[in-house]
Amino acid sequence: MFNLILFGPPGSGKGTQSERLIARYGFKHLSTGDILRSEIKNGTALGLEAKSLMDQGQLVPDAVVIGMIRTALKENPGVNGFLFDGFPRTNAQAEALDLLLGEYNTSIQVVLALQVSKTELIKRLLNRGLTSGRTDDVNESVIGSRIEEYERKTAAVADYYKKFNKVAYIPGEGSVDEIFKKLTEEIEGRI
Ligand code: AP5
Repeated sequence: MFNLILFGPPGSGKGTQSERLIARYGFKHLSTGDILRSEIKNGTALGLEAKSLMDQGQLVPDAVVIGMIRTALKENPGVNGFLFDGFPRTNAQAEALDLLLGEYNTSIQVVLALQVSKTELIKRLLNRGLTSGRTDDVNESVIGSRIEEYERKTAAVADYYKKFNKVAYIPGEGSVDEIFKKLTEEIEGRI
């Protein structure tokens, strides 16, 4: 199995590049943001709990997202690898992920960290907010809170994986094709 984390701030291109990587390598995509939005759409208790936090640009509690990942791993035996998108977002989530993958005798091979300036992130998200219907994209103050949550709680997750030499930084500005090429080069060097 080849498991990777696509890492980066809100709007850095994780979802965009995930789609392409999945098409190329057949990974199972696990996006905690997508799972949470589907819970909200289905009106579940979990979705109701998550919605107000997401609308304010804050992280959902660790226990909730770790539980979602535990379930997803159990429901997908026999895949050739997982692509984690938007998870882990705290050191507690990273530690939990290591333990969970260990139960399946596997681990994270690489963390591909997309680097994009704050000005570009805000521009992309406001632009997507014109059409996405995502309530957390429409106003600049919520976008600012999401970026702040990333800086305060998530950026340090890269340091957690650096200790194990698993982080590759990828410039995340430029064309989608150029960035995809750099991501594939990193993956192919490690597969
Ligand atoms: P989540 O759904 O994970 O959102 P996010 O991290 O804010 O990321 P985005 O989907 O906004 O951006 P992205 O990096 O995927 O970029 P994309 O490819 O879409 O999380 C949402 C919320 O859920 C969180 O705030 C939190 O509340 C909760 N949550 C989720 N996971 C959690 C967890 N683990 N723990 C706790 N809470 C959690 O691209 C963005 C835009 O840019 C698009 O319009 C795209 O077309 C464009 N774009 C992409 N690449 C380029 C490029 N190269 N050039 C120009 N434009 C580009």
